Amino acid sequence: SGKTYEHLLVSSPKPGVGFIQLNRPKALNALCTPLILELNSALRDFQTDKSIGAIVLTGSDRAFAAGADIKEMKDLTFSAAYGNDFIESWSDLVTFLKKPLITAVNGYALGGGCELAMMGDIMYAGPKAVFGQPEIKLGVIPGAGGSQRLTKAIGKARAMETILTGDNISAKQAGEWGLVAKVFETPEECTNGAIATAEKIASYSQIAVKAAKEAVNKSQDLGIREGVEFERRVFHGLFGSKDQKIGMAAFAEKKSPEWSNE
Ligand code: HXC
Repeated sequence: SGKTYEHLLVSSPKPGVGFIQLNRPKALNALCTPLILELNSALRDFQTDKSIGAIVLTGSDRAFAAGADIKEMKDLTFSAAYGNDFIESWSDLVTFLKKPLITAVNGYALGGGCELAMMGDIMYAGPKAVFGQPEIKLGVIPGAGGSQRLTKAIGKARAMETILTGDNISAKQAGEWGLVAKVFETPEECTNGAIATAEKIASYSQIAVKAAKEAVNKSQDLGIREGVEFERRVFHGLFGSKDQKIGMAAFAEKKSPEWSNE
């Protein structure tokens, strides 16, 4: 898009892939308000850009993000937090994004950093990724979905232990617990793996990809019966798309499909 940011590096390294790197190294990518506003803006641009099919969000080798900015938060009052809906704008990050978001975590993903990483549809980790919700040590609790998303991801006993102790979760543990989809051997492999997955997703019909993401996300909110019904309705609906005709005709003719995204 040609925009420049103070706290982000934004590019498109492969066809169809939007790439955002958090870039506030002196504070280990602590998520200050200006950074969050820039991140929302970059995500919105990729969301509206028809040439982009999937988005990768990463940080540096040392830190994905070490949390919300503690120095910015320390003097916040209840009435200002409540009155201005502090952190609510973060939830925009997930709710408006219809395209798949892959978060590639190297180094610290703590507090709000862990919560941001968990907002990804797919999370990948490098060998030195460290996850944790240390808010208890600061006299507060997770505030951007950590108590909910971590519990859904790794189960109540492990999430309760993590959040009540403030202890970190290693990359290896995150892989074993299913918090992340894959653990890579180097930070570069983690980032490149995320870009390769995004490129693959972007190569499919964007109509089908959008429907697939929506269907999987419904499983987080609905019971099995309503969820399966929702899936079936969306599946039926896709027979009204051009890309269903294109995809199945290509298979029958032993060709590769040229998606119309219609
Ligand atoms: C503001 C931060 C920061 C943060 C690090 N820095 N994390 N500044 N907010 N969350 C700053 C440090 O103050 C320091 O600045 C610089 O980054 C480098 O950090 P060091 O501590 O010197 O590095 P190191 O010794 O390697 O320790 C790394 C660390 C530690 C273990 C990650 O920085 C740390 O514990 N950070 C806080 C982690 C945390 O509690 N996160 C949760 C925040 S609460 P100077 O100027 O001294 O060089 C939260 C609530 C979320 O996220 C609620 C909803 C969003």
